[in-house]
Amino acid sequence: MLDLILRRANLTDGRTGIDIGVADGRIAAIEPALAAEAGREIDATGRLVTPPFVDSHFHLDSALSVGRPRFNESGTLLEGIKIWGELKPAITTKDIYDRALKLCHWAIAKGTLAIRSHVDICDDRLLAVDALLAVRETMKSFIDIQLVAFPQDGYLRSPNAKKNLAEALARGVDVVGGIPHFERTMADGALAVADLCRIAADRGLMVDMHCDESDDPLSRHVETLAAETVRHGLHGRVTGSHLTSMHSMDNYYVSKLFALMREAKLNAVANPLINITLQGRHDTYPKRRGMTRVKELLNAGINVSFGHDCVMDPWYGLGSHDMLEVAHMGLHVGHMTGRDEMRACFAAVTTAGAKTLGLSDYGLEVGKPANMVVLQAADQVEALRLRPVRLHVFRSGHEIATTPAVSATLDLGGAETTIDFSL
Ligand code: FE2
Repeated sequence: MLDLILRRANLTDGRTGIDIGVADGRIAAIEPALAAEAGREIDATGRLVTPPFVDSHFHLDSALSVGRPRFNESGTLLEGIKIWGELKPAITTKDIYDRALKLCHWAIAKGTLAIRSHVDICDDRLLAVDALLAVRETMKSFIDIQLVAFPQDGYLRSPNAKKNLAEALARGVDVVGGIPHFERTMADGALAVADLCRIAADRGLMVDMHCDESDDPLSRHVETLAAETVRHGLHGRVTGSHLTSMHSMDNYYVSKLFALMREAKLNAVANPLINITLQGRHDTYPKRRGMTRVKELLNAGINVSFGHDCVMDPWYGLGSHDMLEVAHMGLHVGHMTGRDEMRACFAAVTTAGAKTLGLSDYGLEVGKPANMVVLQAADQVEALRLRPVRLHVFRSGHEIATTPAVSATLDLGGAETTIDFSL
C-alpha cells in the first residue's frame, strides 16, 4: 500500500501516461499502469509532472521592499544600490524575516522548492544574515534555502566587509560571495576573487559571485574566477552570476574564455528579467540586451541556470516569483525558440539550477524525495507558453500547495464554451 499515486503523468523526458508512486516521502515507482493501491490517488490527466523549480540566484533580504524609502525612477542598477543603501539603516531583523517568509510562500505556491539567496553582509549589524538564517530554519521542511555571503558594497571597497563576511560564514551562511566589478579597480577585483576563492577552499565551501554585471566588455573577472577555481581544485563548486559583460566581449576572447570556464566546470547563472532591464542603460540605439551568452555557453558544455534575482525591490519593482516567467524571458532574450532550446530554458529553472546549487537529492527518480509539481500544461514548451498554475506542489510526498485549474467560459450567443488555451 503506497501513500500516494499520481496517475497518467507526462514527464520532462517525453514519456506520457506514467504513474508515480510515493511511499514514506520518497518516490517508490515510476512506470505505466502501476499495479498498486494508495491512500490517495490523483489523476494527472496528461499534465506535466516536474521536479520543483529552482531559483539559483535571488536576494531574499531586499525582496518585497519596493518603494522604501522611494521608487527607483531611473531603473538603473546604481540607483537601486543607492536606494538599498538608504533603506538599510531603517530596516529591522523582523522586517527582513517577514518579507523573506512571505516571498518563500509565493515561491512555494509557484512550485519553487529551492532558492539560493545572496545576503548583504556590508551592514555591520548583520541583521539580514540573522533574519535569513532564521527563515532558512523555519522553512527547511518546505523549501531549501542556500545563503551566499554577499559583500554588496565591495569586499575590499567596503570598510568592514572582510570581517563581516567571515562572521557571516561563522554564523552558518553556506556559500562565499563577491562582486569584483564593483571594487575600486580591475586589480582590486582580481584580488578580491583570489581572496574569496581561497577562503572557500580553506573552509570547503562553494562560491557564487556577482561577476561582471556591466556592459563593459573589458570586465573580465570571470577569467580570474575560472583560474582561481582551477588553482584551488574547486571544480564544479563555483558559480559566476550575471556575467553580462560577456554579451559585449570580443568573440575571439570569448572563445578562449569558454575553454577556461569548461576546464573549471564553472556554473553560469543568467538573470533574464533583471539583465534585460538593467543592462544597456548607457546605450542610445541600438541598445544591447545585456544577457550573457546562454545559448553559446550551453553549446560549450557549461552548466547554465536562470535566477529571478529580484522581486519588488529597489532594482526591479515587478514579479511574483514565478520561475516560468524567468525562463520565458530568457528564451526571448536569448533567441532560444527552437524546441530543444526552449526545453533547455525549462531546465535552466529546474535541473540546471539544482546542479548549480549542488542539490544531490533532486529529480524524479525512484528512491529520491517525492518533491514534485503538477502543472496545468502538457509539456515544457506549453508550460513556457502559458506559465500555468501549479495544480499540486509536493514536498517529501506531502501536498504543500494547490491552485485550482484555470479556464475561461465564453458566452457568445450560442452554447457556452470553456477554454483553457491548450490546443
Ligand atoms: Fe543579484
